[in-house]
Amino acid sequence: MKPINVGLLGIGTVGGGTFNVLKRNEEEITRRAGRPIRITTVADKNLEHARKVTGGAVKVTDDAFAVVADPEIDIVVELIGGYGVARELVLKAIENGKHVVTANKALLAVHGNEIFAAAQKKGVMVAFEAAVAGGIPIIKALREGLTANRIQWLAGIINGTTNFILSEMRDKGLPFADVLKEAQALGYAESDPTFDIEGVDAAHKATIMSAIAFGIPMQFDKAHVEGITKLESADITYAEQLGYRIKLLGIARRRDNGVELRVHPTLIPAKRLIANVEGAMNAVLVQGDAVGATLYYGKGAGAEPTASAVIADLVDITRLHTADPEHRVPHLAFQPDQVQDIAV
Ligand code: HSE
Repeated sequence: MKPINVGLLGIGTVGGGTFNVLKRNEEEITRRAGRPIRITTVADKNLEHARKVTGGAVKVTDDAFAVVADPEIDIVVELIGGYGVARELVLKAIENGKHVVTANKALLAVHGNEIFAAAQKKGVMVAFEAAVAGGIPIIKALREGLTANRIQWLAGIINGTTNFILSEMRDKGLPFADVLKEAQALGYAESDPTFDIEGVDAAHKATIMSAIAFGIPMQFDKAHVEGITKLESADITYAEQLGYRIKLLGIARRRDNGVELRVHPTLIPAKRLIANVEGAMNAVLVQGDAVGATLYYGKGAGAEPTASAVIADLVDITRLHTADPEHRVPHLAFQPDQVQDIAV
């Protein structure tokens, strides 16, 4: 089977996780994708680090533009982050006919309309499961599992850093600044944590979900954004005494005159499931007209949870868009000789 060749742009926390999970679960991933998924080139400005993570197994370069121009590469995985060079690289990759997988919520929320238009024109895929809620397959749930529904609203804890901060402040009485430092050390926070604590990261993710849920363009600039920096320990304590928890929610709701998009700290009755989502965990509630309320829960940040989503997109693209026609249908991917071992 001819492998599908992947160029990885950025081998930080998520890039390293992607490299490791692809290697560890190679056999299963290959079976599910229908052909091997091989990272052939890694671009990173820190060559020494890139060589260390990859163990000399792949080509390493500091020239990301050479990777998106490389005719051998089928899929570009963009894990650089930010709006600047990442946008140029993604657009170049698309122009060169490559599929793109990205975890870059900021890029999609702000430049997604331009990027998707370019991809549509070129007939390539841009997949972004990892951009929202880390390892939770919320994009696939909205786009595939709930596709029969008219979505009425969605609300989620979609920033692990702020949820971690709020949980630690409540449980341990620790000061905001100390917990933020811990979240950074654990690899949850953005390189500029202002995006986390001011609600911008959650607004990026809510923007992306609203575009899929309601079939609207990305409209990040219309979102109401309020973070957790004005909260004090006393607010958390008083909320607790009144039977509430404070959570930073990203909310998108269908209204008669359009879609409402907002991020702000919210009082939630303590007995609700979503009020009990603690630490860096994420959860998204989606209300569809046919299905009713559904809840998705899991790790919203970190190396391997996010890698899980990146690889899901790689498998999807490989199976559905680059495979021979007989591999394009989603399949169960059992190994025939294992079926008889399953006790029923
Ligand atoms: N900084 C983000 C968070 C990382 O804390 O949720 C995952 O998008």
